[in-house]
Amino acid sequence: MSGELSPIDKAKFVAARRAADMVENGMRVGLGTGSTAAWLVRCLGEMVREDGLKITGVPTSIRTAELAREVGIEIVSLDEAKWLDLTIDGADEFDGELNLIKGGGGALLQEKIVASASDQMVVIADKAKEVESLGAFPLPIEVIPFGWQTTQSLVEETLISMDVLGRTVTVRMDGARPYITDEGNHILDLHLRRIGNPRQLGLVVNQIPGVVENGLFIDMCDTVVIGYGDGKVEVRDINEGTIETDRIDFVESDNLFKDLSE
Ligand code: 5RP
Repeated sequence: MSGELSPIDKAKFVAARRAADMVENGMRVGLGTGSTAAWLVRCLGEMVREDGLKITGVPTSIRTAELAREVGIEIVSLDEAKWLDLTIDGADEFDGELNLIKGGGGALLQEKIVASASDQMVVIADKAKEVESLGAFPLPIEVIPFGWQTTQSLVEETLISMDVLGRTVTVRMDGARPYITDEGNHILDLHLRRIGNPRQLGLVVNQIPGVVENGLFIDMCDTVVIGYGDGKVEVRDINEGTIETDRIDFVESDNLFKDLSE
Protein backbone atom coordinates (compact mmCIF):
# COMPACT_ATOMS: atom_id res chain seq x y z
CA MET A 1 0.00 0.00 0.00
CA SER A 2 2.79 2.42 0.83
CA GLY A 3 4.23 1.76 -2.63
CA GLU A 4 1.36 3.86 -4.00
CA LEU A 5 2.55 6.93 -2.14
CA SER A 6 4.52 9.56 -4.05
CA PRO A 7 7.86 10.66 -2.53
CA ILE A 8 6.20 13.89 -1.37
CA ASP A 9 3.42 11.97 0.38
CA LYS A 10 6.01 9.69 1.99
CA ALA A 11 7.85 12.79 3.22
CA LYS A 12 4.64 14.21 4.67
CA PHE A 13 3.75 10.88 6.22
CA VAL A 14 7.11 10.34 7.96
CA ALA A 15 7.08 13.89 9.34
CA ALA A 16 3.60 13.28 10.73
CA ARG A 17 4.49 9.84 12.06
CA ARG A 18 7.53 11.24 13.93
CA ALA A 19 5.53 14.16 15.36
CA ALA A 20 2.81 11.79 16.56
CA ASP A 21 5.40 10.29 18.91
CA MET A 22 5.62 13.65 20.68
CA VAL A 23 2.02 13.26 21.82
CA GLU A 24 1.63 11.83 25.32
CA ASN A 25 -1.26 10.36 27.23
CA GLY A 26 -3.67 12.94 28.61
CA MET A 27 -2.53 15.74 26.30
CA ARG A 28 -4.82 18.32 24.76
CA VAL A 29 -3.64 18.58 21.17
CA GLY A 30 -4.35 21.16 18.46
CA LEU A 31 -4.91 19.35 15.17
CA GLY A 32 -3.81 21.26 12.09
CA THR A 33 -5.31 21.35 8.62
CA GLY A 34 -3.98 20.21 5.24
CA SER A 35 -2.61 17.06 3.68
CA THR A 36 0.34 16.71 6.10
CA ALA A 37 -1.86 17.35 9.13
CA ALA A 38 -4.30 14.76 7.79
CA TRP A 39 -1.53 12.16 8.05
CA LEU A 40 -0.96 13.23 11.64
CA VAL A 41 -4.64 12.84 12.49
CA ARG A 42 -4.60 9.37 10.95
CA CYS A 43 -1.46 8.39 12.90
CA LEU A 44 -2.97 9.67 16.15
CA GLY A 45 -6.23 7.87 15.40
CA GLU A 46 -4.33 4.64 14.99
CA MET A 47 -2.52 5.23 18.32
CA VAL A 48 -5.88 5.87 20.01
CA ARG A 49 -7.50 2.76 18.57
CA GLU A 50 -4.61 0.35 18.80
CA ASP A 51 -2.41 1.55 21.68
CA GLY A 52 -5.08 3.06 23.92
CA LEU A 53 -3.62 6.58 23.69
CA LYS A 54 -5.91 9.02 25.50
CA ILE A 55 -5.95 12.52 24.06
CA THR A 56 -8.37 15.34 23.45
CA GLY A 57 -8.09 17.03 20.07
CA VAL A 58 -8.97 20.57 19.10
CA PRO A 59 -9.40 20.70 15.31
CA THR A 60 -8.50 23.80 13.27
CA SER A 61 -11.12 23.31 10.57
CA ILE A 62 -14.35 21.53 9.80
CA ARG A 63 -12.53 19.01 7.60
CA THR A 64 -9.99 18.17 10.32
CA ALA A 65 -12.85 17.75 12.81
CA GLU A 66 -14.56 15.31 10.42
CA LEU A 67 -11.38 13.29 9.91
CA ALA A 68 -10.58 13.23 13.65
CA ARG A 69 -14.05 11.91 14.44
CA GLU A 70 -13.75 9.34 11.65
CA VAL A 71 -10.47 7.94 13.04
CA GLY A 72 -11.68 7.86 16.64
CA ILE A 73 -10.08 10.92 18.25
CA GLU A 74 -12.21 12.64 20.88
CA ILE A 75 -12.55 16.28 19.91
CA VAL A 76 -13.66 19.37 21.81
CA SER A 77 -13.81 23.07 20.99
CA LEU A 78 -10.96 25.37 21.93
CA ASP A 79 -13.19 27.05 24.51
CA GLU A 80 -13.83 23.69 26.14
CA ALA A 81 -10.15 22.78 26.15
CA LYS A 82 -9.10 26.34 27.14
CA TRP A 83 -5.37 25.69 26.79
CA LEU A 84 -3.44 23.08 24.82
CA ASP A 85 -0.25 21.19 25.51
CA LEU A 86 0.74 20.97 21.89
CA THR A 87 -0.42 21.93 18.42
CA ILE A 88 0.87 20.04 15.39
CA ASP A 89 0.19 21.56 12.00
CA GLY A 90 1.56 21.79 8.49
CA ALA A 91 2.96 24.90 6.79
CA ASP A 92 3.34 26.29 3.31
CA GLU A 93 6.81 27.69 4.02
CA PHE A 94 9.22 27.86 6.95
CA ASP A 95 12.48 29.76 7.24
CA GLY A 96 15.62 29.26 9.34
CA GLU A 97 14.03 30.96 12.35
CA LEU A 98 10.95 28.72 12.01
CA ASN A 99 8.77 31.62 10.95
CA LEU A 100 5.99 30.39 8.71
CA ILE A 101 3.56 31.13 5.95
CA LYS A 102 0.33 29.22 6.48
CA GLY A 103 -3.15 29.34 5.04
CA GLY A 104 -2.72 27.54 1.73
CA GLY A 105 -5.62 25.38 2.88
CA GLY A 106 -7.67 28.39 3.93
CA ALA A 107 -7.66 27.62 7.67
CA LEU A 108 -5.12 30.17 8.88
CA LEU A 109 -7.45 31.97 11.29
CA GLN A 110 -8.41 28.96 13.40
CA GLU A 111 -4.87 27.60 13.03
CA LYS A 112 -3.37 30.79 14.45
CA ILE A 113 -5.84 31.00 17.33
CA VAL A 114 -5.27 27.35 18.25
CA ALA A 115 -1.45 27.61 17.97
CA SER A 116 -1.52 30.78 20.11
CA ALA A 117 -3.34 28.86 22.84
CA SER A 118 -0.72 26.09 22.96
CA ASP A 119 2.38 25.56 25.08
CA GLN A 120 4.18 24.31 22.01
CA MET A 121 3.73 24.45 18.25
CA VAL A 122 5.25 21.71 16.12
CA VAL A 123 5.24 22.06 12.34
CA ILE A 124 5.37 19.01 10.11
CA ALA A 125 6.54 19.54 6.57
CA ASP A 126 8.36 18.03 3.66
CA LYS A 127 11.79 19.46 2.85
CA ALA A 128 10.44 21.45 -0.14
CA LYS A 129 8.70 23.82 2.30
CA GLU A 130 12.01 25.16 3.63
CA VAL A 131 12.99 28.59 2.27
CA GLU A 132 15.75 31.09 2.90
CA SER A 133 13.28 33.96 3.08
CA LEU A 134 9.50 33.79 3.17
CA GLY A 135 7.33 34.97 0.31
CA ALA A 136 7.65 32.65 -2.69
CA PHE A 137 4.36 31.09 -1.55
CA PRO A 138 1.57 33.69 -1.84
CA LEU A 139 0.74 35.06 1.60
CA PRO A 140 -2.93 34.41 2.45
CA ILE A 141 -4.87 36.98 4.43
CA GLU A 142 -8.41 36.43 5.67
CA VAL A 143 -10.79 39.35 5.05
CA ILE A 144 -14.44 39.84 5.89
CA PRO A 145 -16.81 39.70 2.91
CA PHE A 146 -18.22 43.21 3.52
CA GLY A 147 -16.33 45.54 1.17
CA TRP A 148 -13.65 42.96 0.40
CA GLN A 149 -12.73 44.69 -2.87
CA THR A 150 -12.13 47.93 -0.97
CA THR A 151 -10.02 45.98 1.52
CA GLN A 152 -8.08 44.53 -1.41
CA SER A 153 -7.36 48.07 -2.72
CA LEU A 154 -6.19 49.15 0.75
CA VAL A 155 -3.90 46.11 0.95
CA GLU A 156 -2.46 46.91 -2.50
CA GLU A 157 -1.84 50.51 -1.44
CA THR A 158 -0.18 49.38 1.79
CA LEU A 159 2.15 47.04 -0.06
CA ILE A 160 3.68 49.98 -1.97
CA SER A 161 5.64 50.98 1.12
CA MET A 162 6.53 47.44 2.22
CA ASP A 163 9.82 45.60 1.67
CA VAL A 164 8.50 43.02 -0.81
CA LEU A 165 9.39 42.05 -4.39
CA GLY A 166 5.90 41.53 -5.82
CA ARG A 167 2.66 43.38 -5.10
CA THR A 168 -0.10 41.48 -6.92
CA VAL A 169 -3.14 40.63 -4.82
CA THR A 170 -5.75 38.09 -5.93
CA VAL A 171 -8.91 36.85 -4.30
CA ARG A 172 -8.99 33.09 -3.81
CA MET A 173 -11.78 31.52 -5.84
CA ASP A 174 -13.93 28.46 -5.42
CA GLY A 175 -15.23 27.97 -8.94
CA ALA A 176 -16.93 31.19 -10.02
CA ARG A 177 -17.22 32.66 -6.49
CA PRO A 178 -14.74 33.87 -3.89
CA TYR A 179 -13.69 31.05 -1.56
CA ILE A 180 -15.43 31.07 1.82
CA THR A 181 -13.53 30.06 4.96
CA ASP A 182 -14.98 28.15 7.91
CA GLU A 183 -15.54 31.56 9.52
CA GLY A 184 -17.51 32.82 6.51
CA ASN A 185 -14.72 35.11 5.25
CA HIS A 186 -12.72 35.40 2.03
CA ILE A 187 -8.99 34.93 1.39
CA LEU A 188 -6.75 37.38 -0.46
CA ASP A 189 -3.48 35.89 -1.71
CA LEU A 190 -0.56 38.33 -1.75
CA HIS A 191 2.01 37.42 -4.41
CA LEU A 192 5.04 39.02 -2.81
CA ARG A 193 7.87 36.73 -4.07
CA ARG A 194 10.11 37.79 -1.17
CA ILE A 195 9.17 39.35 2.17
CA GLY A 196 12.00 41.49 3.54
CA ASN A 197 10.52 42.02 6.99
CA PRO A 198 7.79 39.46 7.79
CA ARG A 199 7.23 40.71 11.34
CA GLN A 200 6.56 44.27 10.17
CA LEU A 201 4.38 43.14 7.27
CA GLY A 202 2.23 40.99 9.55
CA LEU A 203 1.66 43.88 11.97
CA VAL A 204 0.91 46.43 9.24
CA VAL A 205 -1.48 44.21 7.28
CA ASN A 206 -3.49 43.44 10.41
CA GLN A 207 -4.11 47.19 10.91
CA ILE A 208 -6.13 47.43 7.68
CA PRO A 209 -9.89 47.51 8.35
CA GLY A 210 -11.52 44.37 6.94
CA VAL A 211 -8.43 42.21 7.48
CA VAL A 212 -9.11 39.56 10.10
CA GLU A 213 -5.72 37.85 10.18
CA ASN A 214 -2.70 37.07 8.03
CA GLY A 215 -0.87 33.80 7.38
CA LEU A 216 2.51 34.88 8.82
CA PHE A 217 3.28 32.88 11.97
CA ILE A 218 6.17 34.74 13.58
CA ASP A 219 7.89 33.37 16.70
CA MET A 220 5.13 30.79 17.15
CA CYS A 221 6.71 27.56 15.98
CA ASP A 222 9.03 25.79 18.45
CA THR A 223 9.91 22.69 16.47
CA VAL A 224 9.82 21.63 12.86
CA VAL A 225 9.80 18.00 11.80
CA ILE A 226 11.04 17.76 8.23
CA GLY A 227 10.22 14.62 6.26
CA TYR A 228 12.08 13.23 3.26
CA GLY A 229 10.83 10.85 0.58
CA ASP A 230 13.28 8.11 1.66
CA GLY A 231 11.94 7.94 5.22
CA LYS A 232 14.49 10.27 6.82
CA VAL A 233 13.21 12.83 9.30
CA GLU A 234 14.96 15.81 10.81
CA VAL A 235 13.70 17.42 14.03
CA ARG A 236 14.84 21.00 14.58
CA ASP A 237 14.05 22.70 17.87
CA ILE A 238 14.46 26.48 17.87
CA ASN A 239 14.51 26.82 21.68
CA GLU A 240 17.00 24.01 22.35
CA GLY A 241 19.00 24.79 19.22
CA THR A 242 19.12 21.07 18.46
CA ILE A 243 18.82 19.04 15.29
CA GLU A 244 18.11 15.31 15.46
CA THR A 245 17.78 12.91 12.58
CA ASP A 246 15.77 9.75 12.55
CA ARG A 247 14.37 7.25 10.08
CA ILE A 248 10.80 6.01 9.88
CA ASP A 249 9.94 2.66 8.35
CA PHE A 250 6.78 2.44 6.33
CA VAL A 251 4.60 -0.08 8.05
CA GLU A 252 1.80 -0.96 5.73
CA SER A 253 -1.48 -0.49 7.47
CA ASP A 254 -4.78 -0.73 5.70
CA ASN A 255 -6.42 1.62 8.15
CA LEU A 256 -3.85 4.34 7.78
CA PHE A 257 -3.40 4.36 4.04
CA LYS A 258 -6.87 3.70 2.70
CA ASP A 259 -9.16 6.40 1.34
CA LEU A 260 -6.95 9.39 2.03
CA SER A 261 -9.24 12.22 1.12
CA GLU A 262 -6.79 15.17 1.16
C1 5RP B 1 -3.88 25.18 5.88
C2 5RP B 1 -2.41 25.26 6.07
C3 5RP B 1 -1.62 24.04 5.77
O1 5RP B 1 -0.95 23.65 6.92
C4 5RP B 1 -0.64 24.33 4.68
O2 5RP B 1 -1.37 24.82 3.56
C5 5RP B 1 0.16 23.10 4.30
O3 5RP B 1 -0.68 22.17 3.67
P1 5RP B 1 -0.15 20.78 3.15
O4 5RP B 1 0.24 20.00 4.35
O5 5RP B 1 -1.34 20.18 2.44
O6 5RP B 1 1.00 21.01 2.23
O7 5RP B 1 -1.85 26.24 6.46
O8 5RP B 1 -4.49 26.41 6.09
